[in-house]
Parts: sequence; structure tokens; C-alpha cells
Amino acid sequence: KIKELIGDVQAFTASTQNEVEAFRIKYLGSKGLLKELFAEFKNVTPDARKEFGQSLNSLKKAAEDKVAKLTDALENTTSKHSFYGDLTRPSEPIELGSRHPISLVKNKIIDVFNRIGFTVSEGPEIEDDWHNFTALNLPEYHPARDMQDTFFIEQNPDILLRTHTSSVQVRYMEEHTPPIRTISPGRVFRNEDISARAHCIFHQVEGLYIDTDVSFADLKQTLLYFTKEMFGKSKIRLRPSYFPFTEPSAEVDIYWGLETETDYKITKGTGWLEIMGCGMVDPNVLKNANIDPTKYSGYAFGMGIERIAMLLYQIPDIRMFYENDKRFLEQFKSVI
Ligand code: PHE
Repeated sequence: KIKELIGDVQAFTASTQNEVEAFRIKYLGSKGLLKELFAEFKNVTPDARKEFGQSLNSLKKAAEDKVAKLTDALENTTSKHSFYGDLTRPSEPIELGSRHPISLVKNKIIDVFNRIGFTVSEGPEIEDDWHNFTALNLPEYHPARDMQDTFFIEQNPDILLRTHTSSVQVRYMEEHTPPIRTISPGRVFRNEDISARAHCIFHQVEGLYIDTDVSFADLKQTLLYFTKEMFGKSKIRLRPSYFPFTEPSAEVDIYWGLETETDYKITKGTGWLEIMGCGMVDPNVLKNANIDPTKYSGYAFGMGIERIAMLLYQIPDIRMFYENDKRFLEQFKSVI
């Protein structure tokens, strides 16, 4: 009977650790077969005991060897498997992130102006009244302050979230002497109702150029260069407008064309699109920043990054920029 069992043990194979464990319990467990058989020992006649003991020991050894061998083999194959895997399999794709469209457009604008000598300057998002309003020719109680619905943080003296990055240009003028050629990209805040076209947080790039004899013609040439580089279109028109910090002031329209249905829609059938505000820096603003307006003149311009991104990528709703929906963001993967 024991010889038969030894035969069974030697023939046993397993493909999982669980099977090996079941086998171990069956033979070597505390209620296993070997325990039972050793308990028989006392019933065996003295002259048969030697043989019985020897065969029991061989059975025990055979079972132990089997467990050790199978465990070893299974450990080797499973660990190899999880560690190396199948080296001939194509690998899982690595998920790459993408740049946010606001960053893409901001970087492109910076790049275009870098090429004609503009540096990048930044400033605080929380501003004082002087840099956001007063120095920009918007004294207290000036009606034009209402144009920019402001988030106030403290009042008397006023501390606020900047409503435009013109505040950075005031800081820059206070700290540098002309010639000045700088652009200030950044986040701005306005207390506006959120809709498909407007948000209370958005981004701007504003530009400033101050030197001797800067004229409106210089401004126009720079705008032509910018629109050509940015959109590949250079038909623009300047419409008279008003900003307290520039005189004269203008709104810049680009001719977008009327080739597609979308062109009709976004230009309201005119082909023209407003892309930024600009003008010659008001002499008062120069004076406020300790620059002599009899010696120097300059131009300034400002645009909303979201608006330009919406045009370039045909994005119908400004809120999409801030929702962090992967399906939206992933569409910019191929844009560098
Ligand atoms: N600061 C203006 C705005 O936020 C834009 C602008 C900048 C207009 C410079 C003229 C000159 O709307």
C-alpha cells in the first residue's frame, strides 16, 4: 500500500502554488496521511516494524522532495514572468501630456515679439490702485474705471486683482529708462458674468515700446508684422477707440475672410475680427512713471490670449479652457 502511495507522490505534478499546497496538506499536514500512517505503527507486529518504518520514511521524504521541487519550479516561472514579461511583446504606450492651448498661444506670441527685440516682464496678480489705475491716467472717480469691473481685496487704500497687465508696464517703466521694449503676459481678473464669450479670469499679453521719436507708423508696422506671423494674414484695420492710457487709441481688426461658414459666423458676416486694443502712450502715463514725455514717446497694445486661441483653434466656448476636460486638452497633443 505504501509503495503505491510513493508511486502516486512521484507521479504528482502541479501548475499552481495552490495545488502544491493542497498536496502538502494531504500528505504532510497535521491531519495528513503520514500522520495517520505513523499512528498505525503501534499496530504493526515487531518483526514488520523495521520495514514499515523505512517505507514510511521514504514516503515522507518523497512527499517533502516533491513539495520543494514543485514550489521551486513554480516560483521561478512566476517571478520570471512578472519581472521580465514577454520581451517580444510591443510595449504599452506611454501617456504623454500636452501643453494647454493658453500656453501654446502665449508662447507663440512671446516668440513673435522676441524676434523683434521685446523682452518678457511679469508682475503681481494682486495689485495696488496706483499700478492698475491711477498711474494709467485713471484717477479716482474716473468713469472709465467702471469699464473694468474690479475684484477688490481691500479698500482704502485699494488692493485689487489686476484687471489688465498694463500694471506690469507701469512697474517696468518705473524701474527702467528708455529705450523700453517689453511684453507682459499674465492672468487678469474681472468681475464679469461667465458665459461662452467672457470669463472672470482670463489671460492677456500687453506690449510697450518707448524710445525717442516713436510714432503711430511704428505701431502699425509692428501690428502688421505680428498679425502676419501669428495668423498668416496681414490685412488689418485700425478703428478709433478710447483708452485712458493711450492717445490716440485704436481697436485692431484683422481681415479673417469669408471663405467658410465659420468665417461668416465668427465675423458676423463682415470678414473682420477685433483682436486687440492699442495706442500711443498718453504723456501723463509717462510722467507718472518718471519718463520725460518731451523727450520720449511710445506705443502700447494689449490682447486677450483666450480670444486669439479661440480664433486659431476654432474653440466655440471660453469655458472650455478652464474645465480641464481631457477630451479637450488631448486635441492639442500634436501642437508644439
Ligand atoms: N489694457 C487694455 C485692456 O485691458 C488693453 C490695452 C493695452 C489697450 C494697451 C491699449 C493699449 O483692455
